[in-house]
Amino acid sequence: MIIRSAEFVKSSAAAGQFPPPDMPEYAFTGRSNVGKSSLINMLTGYKRLAKTSSTPGKTKLVNHFLINDHWYLADLPGYGYARTSRSERKGFGRLIESYLRVRENLLSMFVLVDSRHEPQVSDLAFINSLGYNGVPFAIVFTKSDKLSPALLQRNVADYLKRLEQEWETPPPWFCASVTDRRGREEILGYIEKANIKFTANGN
Ligand code: GTP
Ligand code: MG
Repeated sequence: MIIRSAEFVKSSAAAGQFPPPDMPEYAFTGRSNVGKSSLINMLTGYKRLAKTSSTPGKTKLVNHFLINDHWYLADLPGYGYARTSRSERKGFGRLIESYLRVRENLLSMFVLVDSRHEPQVSDLAFINSLGYNGVPFAIVFTKSDKLSPALLQRNVADYLKRLEQEWETPPPWFCASVTDRRGREEILGYIEKANIKFTANGN
C-alpha cells in the first residue's frame, strides 16, 4: 500500500471525544515504551506524526491519525508501566476498555511486544481478553534489530508456543524494526487486505 497522506486528527481522553466511527480503524497498543509511536511513524513514513520518547508513558491519550483520507490509525496509551501512579494506570486501563467497547469500526488491534523479552503477564492477560471478547488482533514483535536473527526466531517461536496453551490457532504476527523498516510492507499489506474486505462487505 502506498501512503499518500497521514494527518493527526485529535487526542481524546474519553470515549465521547473519539472521531465518528465512519472509517476502518487499526489500533496500536502494548506496554509503555515498546515502540508504538515509532512504529506508526515508520509505517506512515512521517517521522514526527506520533510523538516518541525514551521516557516511558509519553502517550497518555488516544491519538487518532487519518491515513489516505480513508482509514484511521489509533495510538493507544501504553499499559503496565510501573512509574505511572496507580490511579493513572487504572485510568489508562479504563480508557482502553471503553475504546474497545465503543469502537465498532476497529478492524484489528495490533498488540506490540518487545521481541527481546519473554511473554509478560500484562501482555498475555491483555491478549487473552481480546481473544475472549472476539476482538481481531495481530502481534508485532518490535525492536527486532536489537537481537540476532537466531535469537529473534527463538523468541518468536517461544511466544507463539505460549499462546498455543490458550488458543488453537496462532494470531497473525509480524517482526518489525524502525531502524531497517522491517515489517512495513507486511503490516501495510495486512491492513490493505482488511480494508478491501471491509469495503467488499458493503461498508
Ligand atoms: P509510550 O507512548 O511511552 O507508551 O511509548 P511507545 O510505545 O510509543 O514507544 P516509542 O515509540 O516512544 O519508543 C520508545 C523508545 O524505543 C524510543 O527511544 C525509540 O527510539 C525506541 N524504539 C522504538 N522502536 C524501535 C526499533 O524498532 N528499534 C530500536 N532500536 N529502537 C526503537
Ligand atoms: Mg507513544
